[in-house]
Amino acid sequence: MIPKNTVDTILETARVEEVIGDFITLKKRGANLLGLCPFHGEKTPSFTVSPAKNIYKCFGCGKAGSPVNFIMDQLTLSYPEALKWLAKKYGIEVVEKELTIEEKEAQTERESMYIVMSFSQRYFSKQMNETDEGRSVGLGYFLQRQIPIGLIDKFGLGYSLENRRQFTDDAIQAGYKPKYLVSTGMCILSNAYVEGEEIKANHIFDRYAGRVMFPIHDVGGRVVGFGGRTLSNDKKVAKYINSPETDIYNKSKVLYGLWFAKSAIQKNDKCFLVEGYMDVIAMHQAGFENVVASSGTSLTVEQIKAIHRYTTNVVVLYDGDEAGQKASARAIPMLLEEGMNVRLLYFPNNDDPDSYYRKVTHDEFTEYVNSKTEDFLYYTAKKLNEDSSGDPIKKASVIKTIVSSIALIPDNIIRSIYVKECARIMEIDEPVLLAETNKIRVSAKKQAAKNTDSETVQPATEGNEVTYEEPMQDEPASVFEAEEKELLRLLLAYGNAYVTIEAEDENLEKFDLEITLGEYIFFELMRDSIKFENPIYSEIYEEYVNELSQQRLPNLTHFSNHPNPLISSFVVNHVHSNYELSSKWKLYGVLVPNEIQLLKKLTQSTLFSYKARKLNVLINESNELLKINSHDKVEIILKELTTLNTMKQRVNKLLGRVVIK
Ligand code: UTP
Ligand code: MN
Repeated sequence: MIPKNTVDTILETARVEEVIGDFITLKKRGANLLGLCPFHGEKTPSFTVSPAKNIYKCFGCGKAGSPVNFIMDQLTLSYPEALKWLAKKYGIEVVEKELTIEEKEAQTERESMYIVMSFSQRYFSKQMNETDEGRSVGLGYFLQRQIPIGLIDKFGLGYSLENRRQFTDDAIQAGYKPKYLVSTGMCILSNAYVEGEEIKANHIFDRYAGRVMFPIHDVGGRVVGFGGRTLSNDKKVAKYINSPETDIYNKSKVLYGLWFAKSAIQKNDKCFLVEGYMDVIAMHQAGFENVVASSGTSLTVEQIKAIHRYTTNVVVLYDGDEAGQKASARAIPMLLEEGMNVRLLYFPNNDDPDSYYRKVTHDEFTEYVNSKTEDFLYYTAKKLNEDSSGDPIKKASVIKTIVSSIALIPDNIIRSIYVKECARIMEIDEPVLLAETNKIRVSAKKQAAKNTDSETVQPATEGNEVTYEEPMQDEPASVFEAEEKELLRLLLAYGNAYVTIEAEDENLEKFDLEITLGEYIFFELMRDSIKFENPIYSEIYEEYVNELSQQRLPNLTHFSNHPNPLISSFVVNHVHSNYELSSKWKLYGVLVPNEIQLLKKLTQSTLFSYKARKLNVLINESNELLKINSHDKVEIILKELTTLNTMKQRVNKLLGRVVIK
């Protein structure tokens, strides 16, 4: 680990113009520097570097960030790796924090495992290219499947000889410890091994003998696992044997092909999701490099998040066979829930991308992929509508099906567009579809609230289940968005400024309390269990609160240098730039009393109008519920409504009081 103060030194020392100047030519333009954006192809420069703010921003593709973010993107490095790169450039010594003995051991264990994996990859590739068996069986197999040599090399494909001790013996001969051959999953313990004793050479044998090998890379390009395909057609033999989960291979996080796809996903703002190793390779061959596979596991939320770092657009290319359909039925709701735009591409006759590519010409394949993808929801709506035409009962169940998918979409605006379009496609009234969608969302939210009730602070209304989480269709999300954004801006830019608020002690006696603006915002939001709608804002806020809880005052640099590019670019785009707008406000610490007063008022009014909006949403929601619910629930809903209306009056009163002239 790099110690905190070294990190700070690196962040303070690294000059954006110098760092970026190492990679692209920058020309002076006023106070800024201008160049051609390295992240998207452009002919007229729109990539702007601000030495004063130590940030960059491309007005073409929107990429923005600090020197660390630039290095992470440009060199595809992790955050600590990028920091080390910068340290080296500036001659800053990085003395990694003294680790505990356990940490040291764990670290050297992992290092040793990476080394074993890298050796194994080179070994299998060498065996395939340089032994008779390797050439005739392994290489022969790939060539027969028409994979070009260039891609065999790029993906590091290889072959494990049939002799079950070949790899084991050679690896031990080369100096690798049996212990690591087992912990990486490269070898298997035999019955000769007795639990507890030291693992010896004669206790282990090859896991993959007689298989062609697909190395699996982590997002930083290190080999962490393998998929080994049998060459036999015997149905009793497992088609693929994959590495087990290990200390360096977290199966639910790693995506096959992501290392080779990252920049293409970013460039195309789209990711193809396929099922198999061969499909990834075939897609590359067809010229689509923005492709990943979940490799040997069903798709996980963490894998989806890994894709989400680069794009929100996913095209699912699963097989048309039963297993493929099942897999997509599982994957699609998860993708929708993560806020991804989901498109589908079906291949005829149960073909997968690889087998289809081999059947048609290269051009036919690209044409097919480019023109035949369908938006998942529209496609489903269309299909369901055709299936149920003229049958009202069928139609009712069909509506439920489509609605359950639409309800998963977290973004209000996108969701309402789908409601509108699907209503049109299915020829039903939009309000009906909307009401059904909201019904599902409301019950899902209530369920979620129930599940977490014990951990969260109860909202100010007692005895009901109202939470402040769910905006409704009538509230344009953009309005919420504006207030959430403003609150975050205040939090990040002025969170460390002290304000005086009125508080009550145990005896309900009022007294003045001096707290930071950050704590004030936190307290106000927590009091009413309010969570930010926008997932990125929510992530920033959670992190801010987490820092606070560890007695640290989070500062702006912390977030503008954030490893998550979505966070750093938010900060650069919305917090930094607004400093300039409000030029009469200086940085916290040097605010004069008047300005502190203004800051406090602005924060209060933002908080209150935010809360008022949340209340409106809840009131609308209850009104909607009234329309669609049966009589026995009406009473409860009416009671909720009364409470909510009272609260609204209270908030409006407060709101009136703090409006700034
Ligand atoms: P498929 O059975 O569709 O194989 O499994 P495939 O990718 O088309 O392979 P080829 O074309 O026959 O060579 C899809 C993916 O599911 C995983 C693998 O990641 C495979 O690529 N899988 C499949 C396993 O992990 N184990 C298996 O036994 C089968
Ligand atoms: Mn296949």
